[in-house]
Amino acid sequence: MVSIKAPRGVRDILPEESWKWAFVLKTASEVAQDFNYKEVHLPIFEQTELFARGVGSTTDVVEKEMYIFEDRGGRSLTLRPELSASMVRSYLENRMDQRPQPVKLWSAGPMFRYERPQKGRYRQFWQLDFEAIGSQDPYVDVEVIALSVELFKRLGMRGLDVVINSVGCPVCRPVHKEALQKFLEPHLEELCPTCRSRYNRNPLRILDCKNPTCRAITENAPKTISYLCPECKEHFEGLKVGLDVLGLHYSIDNRLVRGLDYYTKTAYEVISGDLGAQNAVCGGGRYDNLAEAIGGKHTPGVGFAAGLERIVLTMEQQGCSFGKEPSLEVFVVALGDFERKEALKLMQEFRIEGISSDMDFNGKSFKGQMKLANQLGAACVCILGEEEIKAKKISIKDMVTGEQVEVPKEEAVTFIKKKLTE
Ligand code: HAM
Repeated sequence: MVSIKAPRGVRDILPEESWKWAFVLKTASEVAQDFNYKEVHLPIFEQTELFARGVGSTTDVVEKEMYIFEDRGGRSLTLRPELSASMVRSYLENRMDQRPQPVKLWSAGPMFRYERPQKGRYRQFWQLDFEAIGSQDPYVDVEVIALSVELFKRLGMRGLDVVINSVGCPVCRPVHKEALQKFLEPHLEELCPTCRSRYNRNPLRILDCKNPTCRAITENAPKTISYLCPECKEHFEGLKVGLDVLGLHYSIDNRLVRGLDYYTKTAYEVISGDLGAQNAVCGGGRYDNLAEAIGGKHTPGVGFAAGLERIVLTMEQQGCSFGKEPSLEVFVVALGDFERKEALKLMQEFRIEGISSDMDFNGKSFKGQMKLANQLGAACVCILGEEEIKAKKISIKDMVTGEQVEVPKEEAVTFIKKKLTE
């Protein structure tokens, strides 16, 4: 019994699962390469101000979900709740505006949000984040959506729906906001407490509240797309044209406003019926004013992030393949002091040749070592007994068929290699 447990809402990713993660990460890196996105590694913590200003002070993330701490120098730092603000910060700080535009970046790593844990929702979770910074062309939005769809397709995921919307920009949003508030005013008392508090601060979010009463009230509420300014309208049309050109199926969801303040124009999600309440496998959109919000010059951008845990969960539920599970190829059995030295050398030979191998390090008996080989799932066992060493031979046992043969020591690597490809 361990008395200290992992904090609430976080998980250990053990070997049984970590190889599946490696498969998803490898696939993401291949898709990134095909779409010409370059990988970056950004800090896990940033100045609190970055998220307060970038993500927006009226968002759930900033209001109640951030892990904020003061370092020993008295600075307020925050464990990153998402990556877009950091990506744009990095773009500005590293003068990436000097590079060919848009700059296309991706990254994978842990994010932190103090949320109520439930299936598919954790306090530390991984995101695969893709961002294209430095273009306002709607075809970049199309590319970002196409990239996410291609990623999920290569992972074998099925039954996913792409939902899109446009949330407008600072020109058209105030007009919509006013119309929305006017529409909601007579129903203010019926709204849930959260939505009531959002009425003045961020009424747009009332549209995506899951509470049935709020949903019923907002059923016929003014839609953002009915209020788009000519620029946003044209952009939304461009987005739809691009998606149609690629034959990417999508639906428009007028309630999709997303939970982060920086979105302008495009908002989108890919949702899975297999995930329950937390059904978004990925979410993203355009954030043309984020760079300015954090003190940089105007720089349009668009991207998405996908939750790694949710991808793996969906894949498991759908019985998708994660490729071949890595397994132990050779277990070397050796008993005496001299034999164990020979075993070390033999293992090194195997390992240099890319054959995975292992041995006992706990003084087990012959029987115990054979049992261990079995438990570790070794494909073959190499037995280095006194007799074998004297004769410069090795006994090799196939753990599936039980067949055992003796081969000259110097042929062991070639023999095993051949055997493993059979
Ligand atoms: P987000 O919708 O907050 O967007 O998160 C993106 C994805 O991260 C979600 O669709 C979900 O798969 C996963 N996710 C979020 N919260 C949790 C959680 N508590 N536990 C497990 N998975 C979670 C963003 O973060 C934006 N930065 C996305 C973006 C990039 N927009 C433009 N560029």
